[in-house]
Amino acid sequence: MSGSEVYRYPQHYALGYRWNTEAECAFIETCLRLYGPEGGKRLLDIGCGSGRHLLALAARGYQMTGVDLQPEMIAHVEAEAKRAKLAVTARVDDLRALRVNGTFAAAYCFMDTFRFLLTNEEIATHLRTVAGLLAPGGLYLTDFWIPARWDQVGSEIHQWEQTEGSKTVRVFYLQHPESVDPIQQTFEDELVFEVQEDGQTTDTIRGGRTRTRLLLPQEFRALVEQSAAFELMATHGDFDVTTPLSPSSLSWRMVSILRKR
Ligand SMILES: C[S@@+](CC[C@H](N)C(=O)[O-])C[C@H]1O[C@@H](n2cnc3c(N)ncnc32)[C@H](O)[C@@H]1O
Repeated sequence: MSGSEVYRYPQHYALGYRWNTEAECAFIETCLRLYGPEGGKRLLDIGCGSGRHLLALAARGYQMTGVDLQPEMIAHVEAEAKRAKLAVTARVDDLRALRVNGTFAAAYCFMDTFRFLLTNEEIATHLRTVAGLLAPGGLYLTDFWIPARWDQVGSEIHQWEQTEGSKTVRVFYLQHPESVDPIQQTFEDELVFEVQEDGQTTDTIRGGRTRTRLLLPQEFRALVEQSAAFELMATHGDFDVTTPLSPSSLSWRMVSILRKR
């Protein structure tokens, strides 16, 4: 199960998650320039959510396709694209069994969506499928949570909020320590949205528990190598190509640049 209830509220998601979108889009463009195939303009957003990257990149002239498991997210992307007069393709699809067609210069899977692939087999199949959708030398950019400390596995909590006009969306991310399965390397995490209008809470949406994978840096490296589909070009602790992933740069995410072999 990877369908948190909060993903049925794309308007709230779009506000709550918008804080780093500009830096993340700039990162995609920098990666294309540094590592990507020349002139590549066709991009695939895997687990596109509310389309915060997809819509911004379409406005910059990229030909965008997005897939997401949640029909509400896809309907939102289509409505926003229509409103902004942008031609994009958005489809309900599952990253565990992608059915999308086409040849892309790059694909990306941001904000922890990759951790919905629970087993090594699902990851290997996914990597080979994505490679099959890329042009020669095409890129796959991934971004997922890793623990900054091993004793934090399954017990991290994050909270942030975003405001636009009178509306505030407060996002809570929490992991359930008692749900840790140390053999399968999975645990349950949860999102909660608290929505406020003029400072008054109008809605609280509890996403429900979702089982996700713990993926460690050296393990990811090994899985990418084993897939024979990609070369791992670089890893970063943030959306910044000048800072490699290291104990001093480590925040709570691992951002990787894969290039099709
Ligand atoms: C945390 S959001 C990230 C959305 C977007 N990538 C971003 O950075 O804002 C995770 C998204 O993954 C989608 N998702 C969950 N499981 C999925 C699956 N198996 N296949 C495709 N999308 C999935 C959810 O519907 C949700 O929109």
